[in-house]
Amino acid sequence: MRHVAIVLAAGKGSRMKSDIPKQFLEIDGKPVLYYSLRVMEDSFIDEVVLVTGTDQVAYCKTEIVERYGFSKVSKVVAGGAERYHSVYQGLLACEDADYVYIHDGARPFISQQIMNNARANVEQYQACAAGMPVKDTIKIVDASGFAVETPQRSLVWQVQTPQVFSYKIVRQAYDKLLAMEEMPIVTDDTMVVETMTAIPVKLFDASYENIKITTPEDLGVAEVFVKNLSKIF
Ligand code: CTP
Ligand code: MG
Repeated sequence: MRHVAIVLAAGKGSRMKSDIPKQFLEIDGKPVLYYSLRVMEDSFIDEVVLVTGTDQVAYCKTEIVERYGFSKVSKVVAGGAERYHSVYQGLLACEDADYVYIHDGARPFISQQIMNNARANVEQYQACAAGMPVKDTIKIVDASGFAVETPQRSLVWQVQTPQVFSYKIVRQAYDKLLAMEEMPIVTDDTMVVETMTAIPVKLFDASYENIKITTPEDLGVAEVFVKNLSKIF
């Protein structure tokens, strides 16, 4: 069985408000993107496809893949305007995969434990995603901001990555999505599989440290978290 990771780093990082795309900003002297590639490199994963901006492909090859010796990164491909375009380019670049582990390059604190959990779950369920139960009570509001519903907290999860699928399932789901005339708004891969197939997606426990670097304050949090990892990196 061939396990392939697609690491996404083609976003513009508009919420970070930085001139340098957030995946290349540094945490403790290393680029955000370094950390998840390190975990993939040291894991059971057979191959990594790195998806980045068209004008960042050369930079990624020399300054990240070669510089840190990531031998499992076999391809650096250009992504697209939306996250789902980037995922699709990644899927096209690994057609021989049995299982694909789609991961946000902006989530540096993935771990071997999360990867092992992901593998066990995808082998059992064919479709799964990292997540954690929410800590806050979540409200559904109307368009004017008034609370209309309060879902039972124990059943509400925040979804993270990796999101992991049997290649055939996720490829079919994306082919179907991209062929639609009026595409629904999709923000992650579980939504694509939920909407386009009948396969249920299992959520498995990851970690509250598996944050996505999204806004400037996340970098401060990341500097704290990285101290706990110093024995690994
Ligand atoms: N991503 C991507 N291609 C895109 C958009 C996003 O590969 N067209 C990747 C990002 O690089 C990131 C992950 O998807 O690793 C999660 O996306 P997000 O946090 O939304 O990153 P950005 O889109 O870069 O940030 P923003 O939404 O603030 O612009
Ligand atoms: Mg985005």
